[in-house]
Amino acid sequence: MPTKRSKSAPPGDTLDLEAKSVRALNDASIGKEAKQALKAAVKRLQSTRIPEKRELLRVGVDLGTASIIVMVIGADGMPLATELQTAQVARDGLVVDYIGAVDITRRLVGKLEQRLGLKLTTAAIAMPPGVNPAECSAHRHVVEASGLQVSAVLDEPTAAGTVLGISDGVVVDIGGGTTGLSVFQDGKVVYVADEATGGTHVALVLMGRYGIDFDKAEAMKLKPSKAEDVRVAVLPVMEKMASIVKRHISGHEVNKIWLVGGTSALKGIEKVFADTLGIETVKPPHPMMVTPLGIAMNSTPAPQEVS
Ligand SMILES: Nc1ncnc2c1ncn2[C@@H]1O[C@H](COP(=O)(O)OP(=O)(O)OP(=O)(O)O)[C@@H](O)[C@H]1O
Ligand SMILES: [Mg+2]
Repeated sequence: MPTKRSKSAPPGDTLDLEAKSVRALNDASIGKEAKQALKAAVKRLQSTRIPEKRELLRVGVDLGTASIIVMVIGADGMPLATELQTAQVARDGLVVDYIGAVDITRRLVGKLEQRLGLKLTTAAIAMPPGVNPAECSAHRHVVEASGLQVSAVLDEPTAAGTVLGISDGVVVDIGGGTTGLSVFQDGKVVYVADEATGGTHVALVLMGRYGIDFDKAEAMKLKPSKAEDVRVAVLPVMEKMASIVKRHISGHEVNKIWLVGGTSALKGIEKVFADTLGIETVKPPHPMMVTPLGIAMNSTPAPQEVS
């Protein structure tokens, strides 16, 4: 069916024209230091900055549905070393495979200690939005069984908000299992919701579209050369994620959306959100690292112990 356009509209797709009325910002609204720290978080998966003698360190452990990330940051707030492993040991804030979670976390902490040449002592942890931080004994036990004392327990949106410097707006965390959202007002989280559409659903669509298994679908997401094919195939999933957020924030005055979590790395997702919601949408570089970095930033600075 032909699309009706106003006479003055230049040639082009109507949807595209509408999209110009809202802005899908890439990382223009993120502070320089936060951007640097997020880039360093990824760089420090491969390389290590050895801390100065007596430099205080902070450690964050993020036990997610799709991956476990442990990050060590130095006195300047920049990551020194990051370890990441994909794992299905936690779901919606619950540890579903305790032994597996301890095994992996212990191994990641051990690798970090080896890389840094010192012993780590304390770490902060976080719970998904809507899960009471007081009900996190399993998370705490996992980290303590890895040899670290838990110095702080926070909620994930607050961790992300620390990195992004948010006072007002909505943080949308699209991870492996769910799309979670947190509405911030005056620096406080006033509303949270979490619904089951995340990276796993993206993988399911790719499996169906390309006749591949789950592991291949996960690998496809990570290939920059496939980003456009993935974008086209999973557009309806991205639209569903945006409509989940739209439904939940109706009734709240929202001027800006911030996308975090690994699935926010999907090409073009910030535009889908901006178009669907009519609200400025910001995607920081390496959105998967936002929450782990924020957890580390909220950990109590601890002196090093020689290993
Ligand atoms: N470049 C990328 N493009 C698309 N998806 C990606 C990319 N990098 C990672 N992902 C996806 O991000 C998800 C992991 O993100 P993240 O670590 O934020 O999840 P999680 O915290 O473990 O899960 P949850 O928050 O649901 O508990 C996986 O589904 C992974 O396939
Ligand atoms: Mg997560």
